[in-house]
Amino acid sequence: MKNLIKHLYCVGLIMAFLLSSFGFSTNLILECSYLDISEAPTCFQFSDGSELFLQAGQHAQVIGYDGCLVKPLGGGGLFVPFTKKASRKITITLRRLEPCKVEYCTLAALPLIRKSLYDELASQIGNTGLSLYEESNGNRIWLKHECDNLFESHYDRVYLALFRIYEEQGLIKPGCKVLETTSGSAGISFAGIGRKLGYDCYVALPAGGEKAREVALKNVGATIIFTDRDKYISAFPEFVKDFLHNHKDYFFLNHSMGKKGSQNEVSLAALEGIIAEVKSKLRIDFFLPAVGNGSSVLGPGRVLDSWSKLVAFESVQSAVMYELMYPGQYQDIYGIKPGTLSRHRLPGTSFNGITFPHIVNAVGSGIVNRVVLVSDEKMDQEYFLLTGKTYTEHLPHWDKYFPADFIFGRSTRCGIAVARELAKSVKDKNFLVIAYDKANRYDS
Ligand SMILES: Cc1ncc(COP(=O)(O)O)c(C=O)c1O
Repeated sequence: MKNLIKHLYCVGLIMAFLLSSFGFSTNLILECSYLDISEAPTCFQFSDGSELFLQAGQHAQVIGYDGCLVKPLGGGGLFVPFTKKASRKITITLRRLEPCKVEYCTLAALPLIRKSLYDELASQIGNTGLSLYEESNGNRIWLKHECDNLFESHYDRVYLALFRIYEEQGLIKPGCKVLETTSGSAGISFAGIGRKLGYDCYVALPAGGEKAREVALKNVGATIIFTDRDKYISAFPEFVKDFLHNHKDYFFLNHSMGKKGSQNEVSLAALEGIIAEVKSKLRIDFFLPAVGNGSSVLGPGRVLDSWSKLVAFESVQSAVMYELMYPGQYQDIYGIKPGTLSRHRLPGTSFNGITFPHIVNAVGSGIVNRVVLVSDEKMDQEYFLLTGKTYTEHLPHWDKYFPADFIFGRSTRCGIAVARELAKSVKDKNFLVIAYDKANRYDS
């Protein structure tokens, strides 16, 4: 009996090899969230558990997945979005263009024990609540509760996806030292998820920020490395370059960009889920994301419906996306250059002196309809002292018209303040604001 099975198996293999050698399409069932066959050799897993190693480029061409045709990335790669379910099976159709080396082995792409750990985490991340926060001039302001994720921000979605893909690609394994740069939220999700997955997590954080964030980072088991206070997040590129040069055993996850300054598709696709979940419940007329490194603008923004308007906001101190959208206008209006005022108090949002591919690409792709600047009382005073003008006082404020015990954090307050402003000139619209974090991530 054993011999017969062995015999049939060998015949099957030979048949598969012969068919594929003549350019036939082969359906493979994959259990992975991201696949890039430009990274040769790549391992594909068949539905029967066996695996196939393919050299990329000249040996294989991806022609479709889940029944749809796909446009391969340059170099023969394919990006498979990781949006719906954490571990959904994806059927990839490959056409072998010339005979390739076929090798079978018994190892699963992700060992079962790891897969179940990822599944357990996935059950606590995403599918966040949506609540009607207030009605304003006949419009509705909705909050998407990303702060209810396991480690209390939208970045849980991103790190679950990033750790998984790097593990699937064999670039990291439990016990490895992993590094990330952050102004707080990203680092907490990174270290929270990383520790649960068995990684040794190091976080570069600008000095002089909110103590509440430092405490949260320590509580989830991160080792903090402080970077220059005044340069804030613009110190990161140089820090990372030096650090990785001197610490070759660390792996940098880099949620805010991909290789060679490209966009990070894994981060962006993970954040698309925010919009997909809301779309199934209501029509989004206005989506109001904060400009941070651009991830929560570009990822969710690129899957909005054509009728939705994307209005991004950032501090009047930084105006990074504002300057890209309306070159030169800032100086005409405010009489100073963006970045002149001192460091803003909206950790996680943009900072003048550093830009990111997700910001540039969000503007370049035309998905951003408008950028609104926001202020606070301290910034108004500083601006007045510097220029004798009161223009910033007319901007939406995050520190006005919220109760003292308001549970959501500052960037969420900004989003609500911007929605209230826009709601003055329209009727019967749905405004979607991301509840990025809670007030407990700020010292006051
Ligand atoms: C509190 C808060 N709001 C908004 C953002 C902006 O998010 P992103 O940079 O992912 O677009 C961040 C980013 O860290 C944040 O921490």
